[in-house]
Amino acid sequence: MATLVHQLLSAAVVLAVVQLICSYSFHNCIEDPYSNRQSFHCIHRSNKDMSNYTGDLPLSALNLTISISPLWHIPNNSFANLSNLQYLSIDNTHLWKIDQLAFQNLHQLKSLNLSCNNISELNHSLFKDLINLTSLSLANNKLKQLPEGIFSTVPSLGTLIMRQNLLTNFSGIVKSVSNLTKLRQLDLCFNNFTSLSHSNESLPKSLSVLYICENNLNTLGSNHSFLRYIKVLDLSYNSKLPAMAFQGVDLGNISYLYLQSTSVKVVEFLNISNVKAGHVDFSGTGLKNDSMLTELCKLLNKKQKKVKTLRLDNNGIEQLKNNTLDYCPNITGALHLSRNNLKRIGCLEFLSRHKQINSFDAEHNHLTSLRSCKTYLTVQFLNLEELSFRYNRILSVNRYAFYHTPNVKMLKLNINNIAFLHRHALKGLKKLETLRLDNNLLTDLFNDTFEDNFNLQILNLRNNRISVIFNRTFSSLRNLTTLDLGGNKISSFQPSGLDGLKNLAKLYLDGNNLKQIDGSLYRGFQNTLTVLDLQRNQIRFLTENISSPFLNLRKLSDLKLDGQRPYGLTILPRTLFRGLHSLKSLYLTNNKIFYLAPDVFDDLTGLHFLTLDNCCVGVTQLQPGVFKNLRNLTKLVVENMGIQNFSKEVFGNLTKLHTLQLNRNVMQSIPVDALESLPKLRYLDIRSIPLSCTCTNTLLQNYTLQNPNVQIVYLYHLPCQRDPKGRFFNFATNVCYIDLGEYLFFSTAVVIFLFTATPLLYVKLYWKMKYSYYVFRSWFSEQWSRLREEEEKCKYDAFISYNSSDEQWVMDQLLPNLEGNGSLFKLCLHHRDFELGRFIVDNIVSAVYSSRKTICVVSRKFLQSEWCSLEIQLASYRLFDEHRDVLLLVFLEPIPERQLSSYHRMRKVMLKKTYLQWPGSDCTDPMQAQDLFWNQLRRAISTGSRVKTEENDVSVDSVAPEREETEHSEKGTAEENCYLLP
Ligand SMILES: *[C@@H]1O[C@H](CO)[C@@H](O)[C@H](O)[C@H]1NC(C)=O
Ligand SMILES: *[C@@H]1O[C@H](CO)[C@@H](O)[C@H](O)[C@H]1NC(C)=O
Ligand SMILES: *[C@@H]1O[C@H](CO)[C@@H](O)[C@H](O)[C@H]1NC(C)=O
Repeated sequence: MATLVHQLLSAAVVLAVVQLICSYSFHNCIEDPYSNRQSFHCIHRSNKDMSNYTGDLPLSALNLTISISPLWHIPNNSFANLSNLQYLSIDNTHLWKIDQLAFQNLHQLKSLNLSCNNISELNHSLFKDLINLTSLSLANNKLKQLPEGIFSTVPSLGTLIMRQNLLTNFSGIVKSVSNLTKLRQLDLCFNNFTSLSHSNESLPKSLSVLYICENNLNTLGSNHSFLRYIKVLDLSYNSKLPAMAFQGVDLGNISYLYLQSTSVKVVEFLNISNVKAGHVDFSGTGLKNDSMLTELCKLLNKKQKKVKTLRLDNNGIEQLKNNTLDYCPNITGALHLSRNNLKRIGCLEFLSRHKQINSFDAEHNHLTSLRSCKTYLTVQFLNLEELSFRYNRILSVNRYAFYHTPNVKMLKLNINNIAFLHRHALKGLKKLETLRLDNNLLTDLFNDTFEDNFNLQILNLRNNRISVIFNRTFSSLRNLTTLDLGGNKISSFQPSGLDGLKNLAKLYLDGNNLKQIDGSLYRGFQNTLTVLDLQRNQIRFLTENISSPFLNLRKLSDLKLDGQRPYGLTILPRTLFRGLHSLKSLYLTNNKIFYLAPDVFDDLTGLHFLTLDNCCVGVTQLQPGVFKNLRNLTKLVVENMGIQNFSKEVFGNLTKLHTLQLNRNVMQSIPVDALESLPKLRYLDIRSIPLSCTCTNTLLQNYTLQNPNVQIVYLYHLPCQRDPKGRFFNFATNVCYIDLGEYLFFSTAVVIFLFTATPLLYVKLYWKMKYSYYVFRSWFSEQWSRLREEEEKCKYDAFISYNSSDEQWVMDQLLPNLEGNGSLFKLCLHHRDFELGRFIVDNIVSAVYSSRKTICVVSRKFLQSEWCSLEIQLASYRLFDEHRDVLLLVFLEPIPERQLSSYHRMRKVMLKKTYLQWPGSDCTDPMQAQDLFWNQLRRAISTGSRVKTEENDVSVDSVAPEREETEHSEKGTAEENCYLLP
C-alpha cells in the first residue's frame, strides 16, 4: 500500500515535471561513456536516413562515427545541428550520394573519413565549409575522377587518402591538390594510374609522403622535378614500371623508396638515379642470387661507405654465401632478410664484415634449426640487440645458439615449431630483456633454461605444451615483470615452481589445466603482482570453506577467473576474494556459479570494474547487500544472469557506478527508486530485457524519457515484451494516469461534497441528527442490556405516544377502548408509567422496547413536539433494525402530506406501513366508523410484530426512492396496505 501511494505520488510529481527536459538516449547512436556528450558511435544500425542518425545528437558533439549501416545518402545540411564536429567518420555504409551542401557549417571539422562506401562522384563544392579540415579519407570507394577545384576550400588539408578507387587521371589529382600548401601525405595506392605525367601544376612542396602502390604505372611522366620534395615514395606493385622511367627524375630528397614488385632492375636504376642508395628498399626487387647481391653491394659501396638499413626482404634468397655481403657498405643499423627462402642461417657468418649491425631479422623463412655457435671460429656481434626468427619452421634450438649475439635484448623465436629448446640454448644472453617463445611446441622447461637471463623482463611462453612447471624453473629471473604461460597444458606447479620471480607484476596462466588456485605459489611476488589471469582453466570449488588464496596479494588490481572448463567455478567461496583491497577489475563471466554469497565481494573496496556476464546457472538471486562495499565501482556488467528482480537492496550501494549493463536478463520491470539510488549513473544498457509495457513500468518509462543524466542505450528501439512491434518508450500510459485522474477526481469530489453538504445538512437536519444520536445511544444501551430488555420486552402491549394536548382523547377514548371494556391490553402511558428521575429519553427508549407496539397518536401538535418524533424514530428503528413492525400511527385529524414531508421517516412509514385515521364526528356514521377503528386497532396490536422474511430487506438504504408526491403514488401505496381506512 505504501509503495502504491509512493508510486502515485511520484507519478503525480512526474506528471508535474515540465516536458522540456530531453530524454537522454539516441535513436541510432551511443554516446561514448565519459565523453561528456562529445563522442558518438552509430554502428550496426538498420536505418537508411541520415536524419535518423544525426537528428537527435547534441550540439556539443565533437566526434561522430557512423559505420556498418545501410545509410546511402547525405542530404544537404545534414549536420546543421552539429556545427562543432571535429571528427566525422561515415565508413562501411552504402553511401553513394552526397548532396552539394551536405557538410555545410562544419567549420570546425578536422577529420573526415568516408572510406569503404560506394561513392563514385563528388560535387565540386562539397567541402566548401571545411576550412579546418586536416585529414580526409575517401579510401575504398568508386571514384573515377575528382571534380576541378574540389579541395580549393580546404586549405588546411594535411592528409588525403584516396586509395582503392578507380582513379586514372593523375593530372587531375595534381591539379586538385596543387594549392594545398599543408598537404603532407597523399595516398593513391590501388587505383588505375598508368602514368604520373601531368600538366603545369605541380605537387605542393609540403607533400612529403606519396603512396602510389598497386597501380598500373609504366612511366612516371614528363616532368622530372615533380618528386623533388617527396621523402617517402611507395611505387611498389606497379609491375610494369621499368627502371628507365626514373631517368632524370629528381629523387634527391627521398629517404625511403619502396620498389617491390616493379620491373625496376635495381642496379640499372641506381646507375641512372640521383636517389641515395641507402634509402632504397630492395625488398622484392628480384635480388635472388649471390651474383646479383654482390653486384648490388659493389654498386652501393661505390656510392657510400656506410648504410644504415639494408632491406632485402622478399627476394627469394635461398642461401647467403659467407662473403656475399662482404662487398656491401658497412651496415650500421638493420639487415632485413624476411620473407625469403632461407633454410639455414648458421651463426650469421655472412655478416662477419658488419660487426656493427644492431638488428637482424629473418622472419618468414624456412629455417628449421638454430645451431650451436660456441665454436672457436665464431664472430661475435656485440652491437646486435634485436634478433627475430619469427614465422619459421624451427624445431630445435641447440645449446649456445646465441653465443655470437651475447648482447641481444629482444629475441623473437615465436611462431615456430620449437619442440626442443636445449637447456643451454639461451646461455650467455645476460642482457636479454624480452624473449618471445610463444606459439611453439615446448613441453619442458629446465631449471637452468633461463639461468643466464637475469635481466629478462618479459617472457612469453604462451601457446606451447608445457604441462608442469618444475621447481626453480624461473629462479634466476629476478627482474621479470611479465610471465605469460597462457595456452599451455599446465596442471600443476611444483612447490617452488614460481620461486625467484621477485618482481613479477603480470602473470598469465589462462587456458591451462589448473584445477585449483594455490595461493602459496604467489608468495614470492605477493607485493608486486598486479595482474593475474586464470581464465579458462579447470578451477572448480566444491565447498564454501577454503582459505583465501589471494590473501596477501596487496597490489593485485586485475583478476580474471572467467570461463572455467567444463563445469565452471560452481561455488564461489565467500572467502575467495579476502584481502583483495586494491583489486580494480574482476572478471567472473561464464562460470555456472550456483550462488553468490552476500559477503563474497566484501573486501573489494577498491573495485572499479566487475563483470558477471553469464556467470551463473539459471536464475540468479542476487542477495541484498552483495555489492554493499563496492563503493568505487564505476562499471558493472551483469548481463545474461537471469536476474528477475532489480532492486535497491542489491544495487543501491553503488554510489560511484557510472556504467551499468543489465542486458539480457529476465526482469519485466525495473523499479525506478533502485535506479535513483545510483547517483553517478550515466550509462544504462537495458537491451534484451522483456520489459512489460504496462502500468507497472510507467515510472520507468518516465525515468528513461526524462532523466537528463543517464544515457539509455537505444531506448527508442526497446520493444515491448508482449508486443514486439510496440516500443517501450511510447507505450500508452494515459490509461494509468486516467485511473489516477479518476481517483483524484472522485476523492476531491467527495471531499468538496462533504464540505458543502455538512453545514446544509446540519441546518436542515439538526433534529434528525440529534435523533440519530439517540438512536445510536439506545442501540448501544440495548446491546449491553439486552438480557434485561428481553425480560422487559413484553411488559406492555403498546406504548402510547401522544402529545399532552391530545391527552383528553387518550384518556377518554383510547384507554377505555383498549385497556378497559373487556380488552386485555396493557398500555404504557408516559404520565402514568414512566420511571421518575430517569432521563426522559431513556424512559422513551425503554418504553418503546418494552412494548410490543408503539402507537403514535398523530396530531398537528404531536408533529411539532420533538419527543413525539423521537418515538416515531425509535419505533421505525425497530422496524428497520429488528424487522419488527412495532409502529402504529393513529391520525387524530387529517394532516396534509405537505406537513408530513419534513418528518421524512414518518412519512415513509406512513406510506408503507399501517396507519389508522380516527373517524372524527364529521363523517356520516361516526359510531360505526369508530367501532371499526377500535376493532382494527385491537387487531393491529395483537398481530405479531415480526415482519416476514421477504420483507426483511427493508433497510434505511433500500427504502424506496423518494417519489413525486402525486396522487398516483399515494393511491398506489394505499392499495398495498391492508389496514387502510376507506
Ligand atoms: C575524438 O576522436 C579523436 C581521434 O580519434 C580523439 O583523439 C579524441 O580524443 C576524441 N574526442 C573525444 C571527446 O572522444
Ligand atoms: C527517420 O526519420 C524520419 C524523419 O526524419 C522519420 O519520419 C522516420 O520515422 C524515422 N525512421 C525511423 C525508423 O526512425
Ligand atoms: C578553425 O579555423 C579558424 C580560422 O580559420 C580558427 O580560428 C579556429 O580556431 C579553427 N578551429 C579549430 C578547431 O582548429
